[in-house]
Amino acid sequence: MQSLLILGRQPELGLAELESLYGAGQVRAAGSQAALVDVDPCLLTFNRLGGSQKFCKVLTTLDNTNWSKIEKFLLSAAPGHAQSMPDGKMHLGLSAYDFKETTQRIQATALKLKKAIRSADPNRSVRVVPNKESALNTAQVIHNNLTTPNGWELVFIKDGQQTIVAQTVKVQDIAAYGARDQGRPARDSRVGMLPPKLAQIIINLAAGPLPESAQQNICDIPAGDPIPPTILNQTVLDPFCGTGVLLQEALLMGYAAYGTDIEKRMIDYSRRNLDWLTDKYQLTDSSVQLEQGDATNHNWSPAPNLVAAEGYLGKPFTTAPPRDVLAQTMNECNVIIRKTLQNLAKQLPSGTRLCLAVPAWHMGSKIMHLPLIDHLPELGYNTVDFEATKGLHLTYHRPDQIVARELLVIIRK
Ligand SMILES: C[S@@+](CC[C@H](N)C(=O)[O-])C[C@H]1O[C@@H](n2cnc3c(N)ncnc32)[C@H](O)[C@@H]1O
Repeated sequence: MQSLLILGRQPELGLAELESLYGAGQVRAAGSQAALVDVDPCLLTFNRLGGSQKFCKVLTTLDNTNWSKIEKFLLSAAPGHAQSMPDGKMHLGLSAYDFKETTQRIQATALKLKKAIRSADPNRSVRVVPNKESALNTAQVIHNNLTTPNGWELVFIKDGQQTIVAQTVKVQDIAAYGARDQGRPARDSRVGMLPPKLAQIIINLAAGPLPESAQQNICDIPAGDPIPPTILNQTVLDPFCGTGVLLQEALLMGYAAYGTDIEKRMIDYSRRNLDWLTDKYQLTDSSVQLEQGDATNHNWSPAPNLVAAEGYLGKPFTTAPPRDVLAQTMNECNVIIRKTLQNLAKQLPSGTRLCLAVPAWHMGSKIMHLPLIDHLPELGYNTVDFEATKGLHLTYHRPDQIVARELLVIIRK
């Protein structure tokens, strides 16, 4: 059985995240925006995936990509499906990925479908969700009830010469992400704002293949009930924990959280935020350890199972800095992160995985990377390569930003 996922804004990050958890052999890209994973959909840990927006059930695969033929198929199949849905108003939405069809064309197909469903069952009222683009976004899916029993979002993915037709089952809980980000009591814009979704991606890249205990059967949980966190007997260390965003996500995934930061103020912030989260999500079994410490010389005890962090990113430039200023910032970041990796190498057992977000700078068309990236083997680490990125850098970047976060995924030799 396969699971189908619609990936986020940077699809390569979502693919690498899936590869990390499920193995390259189990994951393949479908078009430029989706991934097929050879995992039973009931066992897929969608809640912890920061890089996948929608979780879909594959309905069928068509041997062509011609929209008129796809439409013809839908007009014959959809009325029958609609009859199997509960009585009441039906909400219908269409999302097409990698097709060249205009938004109007997709919308026209949705309206034809509505007509076909209504002529087969005149008592059925159908509301079509208007497409602003060829695919509906997560907020539209939620606000238009498309994943409720009376909702139907049909997803079309152009996959080479074929079309995958799927139905959305679940989408990322954007309200919960927002509440964890903006609702936490202690925030500090000076240490940057790590988005919770990116924190999840960093942890998943550090985690590697998931143990069986993490693969909860979500089909056993009644629809609408919250999915309880599984307690994993593993500890995530964040040696640059700041306000604790990454540790918050680690706790929600079922890990024990271990955070250190050079500033006492940050440790206080993390403690307040993690107390708040534990209370909000009733994480009664969660374990938190926080200490003030300089990552370049701190002793962490006990040794963690994985290390996941957004490291020191230097000055938050809003415009391209002069060369000498950039060189100074690069050097400062390089020294702190290199010494941290050397310190960690002395303490981590061989085989421990790490994912560190480190700065890279977009200077016009040129991207400047930290020099230490070319010396990871000398520092005691092997790099984890992902098929999804084909040896390229794994970077989280917003088009308007100078400082990007480069995700280093490495294993202690
Ligand atoms: C980019 S912020 C991380 C933000 C964090 N992800 C969060 O959720 O708030 C970097 C953090 O590294 C800390 N830091 C800088 N140099 C450090 C060092 N040598 N050892 C430990 N922490 C350090 C800073 O105090 C800051 O909190």
